[in-house]
Amino acid sequence: MKPAVLALSLIALPGLAAAQGQVNIICSVQAEWCNMMSTVFAKSTGIKVNMTAKGSGEALAQLMAERANPKTDVWFGGTGDPHLQAAEQGLTLEYKSPLLPQLYPWAQKQAADSKYHTVGVYLGPLGFGFNTELLAKKKAAAPTSWADLLRPEYKGEIQMANPASSGTAYTMIATLVQLMGEDKAFDYMKALDRNISAYTRSGTAPVKAVARGETMVSISFVHDATTEKVNGFPVGQATPSEGTGAEVGSMSIVKGGPNTANAKAFYEWALTPSGQQFGLAAKQFQLPSNSKVPIDPRMSDPKKIKLINYDYAKYGASAERKRLIAKWEKEIQNQGK
Ligand code: F6P
Repeated sequence: MKPAVLALSLIALPGLAAAQGQVNIICSVQAEWCNMMSTVFAKSTGIKVNMTAKGSGEALAQLMAERANPKTDVWFGGTGDPHLQAAEQGLTLEYKSPLLPQLYPWAQKQAADSKYHTVGVYLGPLGFGFNTELLAKKKAAAPTSWADLLRPEYKGEIQMANPASSGTAYTMIATLVQLMGEDKAFDYMKALDRNISAYTRSGTAPVKAVARGETMVSISFVHDATTEKVNGFPVGQATPSEGTGAEVGSMSIVKGGPNTANAKAFYEWALTPSGQQFGLAAKQFQLPSNSKVPIDPRMSDPKKIKLINYDYAKYGASAERKRLIAKWEKEIQNQGK
């Protein structure tokens, strides 16, 4: 880590320098970001951080499994829908941060939708990643629409994640249902299945496969394609011309966790401008939720993307999320090609 980044964060938490104990965090962003936050927070406060990495759906499943005896204190990152589901199911603590007024309206709305059991920490639109060298070699055009993904030249060349474990994939299903209507969205996903070579556990695995040249196209949050490009891989990106959804990456405090005071200290820090600089420092390009954090030109500008009016409350409701995932498993995953 750059010394300047560390120094800035140490200044941010003077009152907590003597704090002790530990905090158990499930982290649903990429490992580089999780590790940086955990190192800086531990150094700044003296609080030991026990960090576990889990995809959004897997994190929710863990909190459900721990319900009777929670071991986790904070769930940081991951798509907003399962955080809303956790709120509805009484797994997370009601907590209203004094920093809420500094956050963009979409992040404050996520908090209000959950009755202050979660909060938005970043925003990221869904789209496609593609390997520009593979496309050129096969003389295939880059996809620019959902319709394009059905083209025969992509047969066996698209990867996406499994919505049961991945918030990225669930965001795609909810987006298509809102964009096309449910019947047409499922017909579309059945047709798309012919071109899919793998449904991965993690939401970022498909774009990493694109970067390594293992597949031509991924369905991904576009900030994850930017990360691969910045790391030197031949990766391009697009958002679909018909319209797309965006995630409100979220953070929640677990109700009845073993270290709630330390959980609140981490939560507050993670909403400050200095706590929010570590996404970019770890080469992650989601738009941070604190409006005082400088925006990097490599982050997508939501105003320049055709975004649907994603109904976060509806698609984050337990019954709806469970129903759509079960339907996908029955009609798409288990249909056999
Ligand atoms: O960390 C990258 C990221 O795309 C986040 O923006 C997002 O919240 C998370 O991964 C989703 O991961 P998954 O699809 O595995 O739940």
